[in-house]
Amino acid sequence: MFVFVIIFMVAIVYYIHFRHMRKPLYELAEQMPTIGDLPVLGHTHWFIGGPERLLQNIQQLAERVDSLGGLCKLWIGPSLYVVSLDPEDVQKILENCLEKDSTYKFLRTWLGNGLFVAPVDKWKVHRRAVLPIFNNRIIEDYIEVFGQQGEVLAQRLAEQVGQKEFDVYKYITSCMLDIVFETAMGEKMDVQNNPDTPYLRARNCVMSIINMRLFKAWLQPDALFNLTHYAKIQKENIDITHKFTDEVVRKKKELFDAGGFTKEGRKDFLELLLSKDAKFTNKELREHIDSITIAGNDTTALVVAYTLLLLGNHEEEQEKVFKELKDIFGDSDRLPTREDLNKMEYLERVLKETMRLYTVVPIIARKTVKEVKLSTFTLPAGVGCAVAPFVMHRSKKLWGPDADCFNPDRFLPENSVDRHPCAFIPFSHGTRNCIGRHFGMLAMKSILATMLRTYKVTSRSINRFKIEILLFPVPGHMISIERRNTKCN
Ligand code: HEM
Repeated sequence: MFVFVIIFMVAIVYYIHFRHMRKPLYELAEQMPTIGDLPVLGHTHWFIGGPERLLQNIQQLAERVDSLGGLCKLWIGPSLYVVSLDPEDVQKILENCLEKDSTYKFLRTWLGNGLFVAPVDKWKVHRRAVLPIFNNRIIEDYIEVFGQQGEVLAQRLAEQVGQKEFDVYKYITSCMLDIVFETAMGEKMDVQNNPDTPYLRARNCVMSIINMRLFKAWLQPDALFNLTHYAKIQKENIDITHKFTDEVVRKKKELFDAGGFTKEGRKDFLELLLSKDAKFTNKELREHIDSITIAGNDTTALVVAYTLLLLGNHEEEQEKVFKELKDIFGDSDRLPTREDLNKMEYLERVLKETMRLYTVVPIIARKTVKEVKLSTFTLPAGVGCAVAPFVMHRSKKLWGPDADCFNPDRFLPENSVDRHPCAFIPFSHGTRNCIGRHFGMLAMKSILATMLRTYKVTSRSINRFKIEILLFPVPGHMISIERRNTKCN
């Protein structure tokens, strides 16, 4: 009995201390508008359900936040979040809150302190060191790889000509994997022709477990997760992926220590990181390479696949892209060069409009570590900040009454002059934005240029989506293709 009394007293003291430490959070929460919350549960019930249900809930919640003026609080379990749909406040959040929210911690077991998830003190030092390898001149050396892999993709798609609808995403993601492996670590994996390797199986398995953990509240505490068989499977598969990259790093480092990289021409990211003054440990190198290959693959592949879906049911815009390609390439079937890619202005607008309508990174979550002043409230340290680009990108307030329509000319320079810098943020904003955006844009243009010179695409419009970390269409990226007579006829 005495023991129970002691435990009870300790629990009460702990609770009082917990409430006291979080007083600024409760004070903020008192003043902030709220919608759709329940006693005790707060807003947690909105985030329960399968990936499709979850997206619908978030959309409904966002509509209600919009009707409240674009700012609202959310209690998810004991964590307080602020959701903002106002570009001014979003700019303040993305420029001042550089720490990732604790929901990213599930990725940390896998990606360690790679840029994507690193705590801000480590991130600052490493981002400064890694940034130069993403500069435009270096990225442009990879254009040849984009073109070669785009050609392989076009050849592989020949098996679908004249067939029924098929899911084009799996073809494109294999192509992007070949691109990121070759440019990040010099490995020619040929995933396009050999998609089933132990490494890729392990990688997919880890991703699906992390995704499941994100959306199943009971799997989130480590103590509970470690009791399930998923913990063991996750560890085994993370070990396989780490072993693969460790081995590539070890071999490259041996080569470097034996006299540097003497070969002429293009260097991959790993060689560039090894040649830097900032001496990374083997573990840090693995974490950076894994983060780059993971952050750069599905994102880019999804945007390419969504672009094909959109052009497949917007014939006029598809013909405009084809005409632009014809003007650039004439009858030549050469691979796209830097000059060619720079001339693809209409295709670039199509890509931007695709990323607006189908924002593949739908939510960005940060955490305040010091006070941050928004337009109407000051956030204390310890508040989660949720930015929802996929909601903002369809806001009628920001994009007008036709916000749901596909219109690439929104991105003509004359139509973009008055746009707020945070109205369109597919690559996020501020110093912790996407480091690979230039790489991504060039790769996407190159792949699409090759595909759309070779094939005419048809598709039906889609209206069911789900969140699995990224935004996916429920039926898949279903298209059908027919061959154009010549590359550009
Ligand atoms: C269309 C393609 C892409 C999209 C839409 C995209 C989007 C994003 C977004 C929204 C973020 C910020 C996420 C957050 O704060 O939660 C991000 C970060 C990042 N992206 Fe991308 N990305 C793309 C392509 C790439 C490519 C091709 C690479 C590498 C080759 C890459 C590497 C990274 C890395 C390393 C980060 C973390 C940056 C940091 O925290 O300093 N991304 N990306």
